[in-house]
Amino acid sequence: MTEGGARKVAFVTGAASGIGLATAKAFAVNGYAVALVDRTEEAGRAAEAEIGQSAECVFIRCDVTDDPGVRDAVARTVERFGRLDAAFNAAGIDGETGKKAADVTMDNWLRVMAIDLTGVWSCMRHQIPEMLKSGGGSIVNCASVAGVVGAPYVSAYVAAKHGVVGLTKAAALDYAGEGIRVNAVCPGFIDTPMSREFMTPEISDALMGQCPIGRFADPGEVASAVLWLCEGASYVTGQAISIDGGWTAK
Ligand code: NAI
Repeated sequence: MTEGGARKVAFVTGAASGIGLATAKAFAVNGYAVALVDRTEEAGRAAEAEIGQSAECVFIRCDVTDDPGVRDAVARTVERFGRLDAAFNAAGIDGETGKKAADVTMDNWLRVMAIDLTGVWSCMRHQIPEMLKSGGGSIVNCASVAGVVGAPYVSAYVAAKHGVVGLTKAAALDYAGEGIRVNAVCPGFIDTPMSREFMTPEISDALMGQCPIGRFADPGEVASAVLWLCEGASYVTGQAISIDGGWTAK
């Protein structure tokens, strides 16, 4: 609830699956009305049906690479729920894996940048004016441990996610005096459809052997950090918080 008693409103991209879906559910459980934004219609409608049983929500089909579409998605959210208090920009892809930096195709480079970096900026550029209208808000961008340290054979993804961390810090400074906090979460290995795509038992064993906590995280463990950043972290801005079982502490 806001100080005036109105319920808060959250905008979540990538809300049809994985980390975005878990976070949309966490917002709903915490009393937010939630715009579920994703390019995947069927899974988005399923999320809307599930979350809608106990909370206000709407699915909005939108590809974050379509800037006018993002503008309309934010406008529809505000038309429907009256305001915008929180955003979690989680839509993302890992793109092609397994190629050294010089062998990455131009198509893959541009696609990963368009979704993982420009898509986040596009969301922010439409979310921020709406938050300013109601005196502020909290934006959390989904980076990755690949936004904090390098990883081999995924250079486009690593570059985009480092870009998300830089964008987060710069925007946090731009809006710190206007009531908007901007932070990033940097997940390690989270059990979602994206990570399952490339996970063989061999890869899983190798990764977990290097993870101090020694297991994959549940998407809900990222969601609880996002909720804290939006609800409890009133003096935290411009931070990139690793949720990685200790991976980057080494
Ligand atoms: P996921 O594949 O389960 O979900 C991603 C969602 O984003 C899907 O619903 C997909 O339809 C949507 N999406 C993709 N491109 C889109 C676009 N152009 N426009 C709108 N929606 C789009 O993946 P997961 O694992 O939940 O990933 C969410 C975020 O977390 C991504 O940004 C990813 O890079 C990041 N991440 C994931 C990690 C993991 O281990 N799963 C680790 C570190 C970061």
